[in-house]
Amino acid sequence: MDNPKTTSKPFISDIETLRKRAREHIANGVVTFTYQGNAEKTIEILQSVLATEIVCVLRYTMHAVAATGISSDAVKAEFMEHAKEEQIHMNEVAERINQLGGKPNFDPQGLATRAASEYGTAGNLVDMIKENLVAERIAVDHYRELIRYFGNDDPATRTMLEGILVVEEEHANDMHDLLVAHEGHPMLPS
Ligand SMILES: [Fe+2]
Ligand SMILES: [Fe+2]
Repeated sequence: MDNPKTTSKPFISDIETLRKRAREHIANGVVTFTYQGNAEKTIEILQSVLATEIVCVLRYTMHAVAATGISSDAVKAEFMEHAKEEQIHMNEVAERINQLGGKPNFDPQGLATRAASEYGTAGNLVDMIKENLVAERIAVDHYRELIRYFGNDDPATRTMLEGILVVEEEHANDMHDLLVAHEGHPMLPS
């Protein structure tokens, strides 16, 4: 067998070692011997991601209810669909915090400051679309950075964020399309 110290190939533990290690420190749940991340730091980061997703749920839900004006029905439906998808993200992130031994922070107190995205103040349909587009672009940037940050240290957290990122990019694209449809010209360079 290759010596793990003299080869660049990742080392694979034998089954007996895996079984022995898994029985030690069982109170740590999924945070096992091979977890190379910092669980506390990961939980802290995910609390901010959770707040971001909650704010997105609230903003899209409010927009879906408050949107009025010409051709608002299709936009309302789009906002509501996004609100539901943000809620799925919210649940996924909360579950991951729990798996890592943390307590997901749903406290409304301080929510806006924990979140990367903003709740918004838009009073008309086009401004709502713009606010959502900006919020999605913030989320996309934030999650891309986090995916690189977690790398191979915490593949499960990274994979979860990759899945969320794909949906956030779709959301940004949907908002961009709506903006083009309502303003008649692309706001972003193609
Ligand atoms: Fe989301
Ligand atoms: Fe989104």
